[in-house]
Amino acid sequence: MTRAASSIASPETLPRHIAITMDGNGRWAAAQGLARSSGHEAGLAPVRLCVEECSQLGVEALTLFAFSSENWSRPAEEVASLMGLFFSAIDREVGELGRKGVRLRIIGDRKALSIRLQARIASAEQRTAGNAGLRLQLAVSYGGRWDIVQAARKLAGQCASGALRPDQIDEARFAGALELGALPDVDLLIRTGGERRISNFLLWNLAYAELYFSDRLWPDFDLAELARALEFFAGRERRFGLTGGQVQAEHPPVAQ
Ligand code: IPE
Ligand code: IPE
Ligand code: MG
Repeated sequence: MTRAASSIASPETLPRHIAITMDGNGRWAAAQGLARSSGHEAGLAPVRLCVEECSQLGVEALTLFAFSSENWSRPAEEVASLMGLFFSAIDREVGELGRKGVRLRIIGDRKALSIRLQARIASAEQRTAGNAGLRLQLAVSYGGRWDIVQAARKLAGQCASGALRPDQIDEARFAGALELGALPDVDLLIRTGGERRISNFLLWNLAYAELYFSDRLWPDFDLAELARALEFFAGRERRFGLTGGQVQAEHPPVAQ
């Protein structure tokens, strides 16, 4: 049985929302003497694995960081190869996503993408919009700071038009204006590639996420490593600012 992660995840300890920073494609390619673009292409297989496994496990939402606001400053050739990869992968995968009941959404500054890619994204989103399974977000041209600014701009516009009063802006309304909207906060952030940083991913939504850093390069990420991340998550005591005593009083350990 290849469902390595399934064996350890129980409904009480399963994250509702997993986010993954898929880092290390370039180093993976360099180690094989290949062009960086080959590393990005090799990163597609673990994406499929994670989508399949999260669907099977009943994870509500999976958000994958594919291209950051800052990644636009990479060499033009690499940016072009990544955009080409998004274009072909979205088209190729949308049928399979549909069969799995996955609902796909792209988060990020889509106006920065080519009109062709924007159209393909819109069509993939439309084709999967009615699906009731895993909510899959692909972050492309995404930055946590950009997200907060676009939310502020949206709310400021509503205030300027008189549709909203500034005192009606609270955390819930602000969160609703962010790209992830009504999705639950991220419970578990996995970052591959060995770096221990956020790199401008979901700054607001990661507020109380558990952080799992893996030394694996993304193309080498597999079900066993996902299982380790889920096991790590299952072992955390999430306190959300309370004391350990308060948390244990609320959720006493279940007798065996
Ligand atoms: C992650 O891999 C993919 C993107 C950021 C687009 P990298 O391309 O950053 O790979 P490394 O970190 O250089 O190995
Ligand atoms: C983060 O990786 C962005 C994605 C994985 C899409 P980077 O490779 O861009 O992050 P830094 O530059 O190492 O912080
Ligand atoms: Mg990197």
